[in-house]
Amino acid sequence: MSTQSSKIAMTEFTNPNFEVLYTSEEIAARIKELGVRITADYAEKELVLVGVLKGSCIFMADLMRAIDLNLTIDFMAVSSYKDGTRSTGDVEILKDLSNPIRGKHVMVVEDIVDTGLTLSRLLEILESRGAASIRLASFLDKPEPRIKTELKIDYTGFVVPNKFVVGYGLDAAGRYRNLPFIAVVKNPDEL
Ligand code: IMP
Ligand code: MG
Repeated sequence: MSTQSSKIAMTEFTNPNFEVLYTSEEIAARIKELGVRITADYAEKELVLVGVLKGSCIFMADLMRAIDLNLTIDFMAVSSYKDGTRSTGDVEILKDLSNPIRGKHVMVVEDIVDTGLTLSRLLEILESRGAASIRLASFLDKPEPRIKTELKIDYTGFVVPNKFVVGYGLDAAGRYRNLPFIAVVKNPDEL
């Protein structure tokens, strides 16, 4: 690795434009709690975790290791936020599940629920495929802008203010997913 790239990586973790909201230690402790609850709730059930790419990748990796059950995983990719930063509510499936979910207990794993438009549509699509049950785990819940949908989140990591956040899988124009913490972007124009 060049000196230049390691310098850039160090700078991003301490970027003054980021205000840390949850440290990696706080995140780990919360995920452990969620794992205990999910393990108890799904005892004896055939659980399939469905991660919504790409934002859920880190939450998915940590959450599955906190669940002490015999489970399987799958992934979907859907498009959202087609008009710059505003959700349009239109969902296009970019990558579908690899296996059928009929008769399975499905838990959709998402990074953040903002307006909830993307997920409501995705859940409708999955419901039409005959799963035994469908629940939702979202690492973050940004409830303030949720004026358009009545989405119930079954397992929430943290409730965050109505501000733009990055890290732990969440991005700004594809970047900052690798930050090990969740941060509020103080000046989005300066990213
Ligand atoms: P919505 O719930 O349909 O409005 O869209 C949710 C999606 O928007 C999430 O899966 C994220 O990809 C993205 N998103 C919403 N809020 C944020 C944020 O604060 N930071 C990064 N991505 C966000
Ligand atoms: Mg997402």
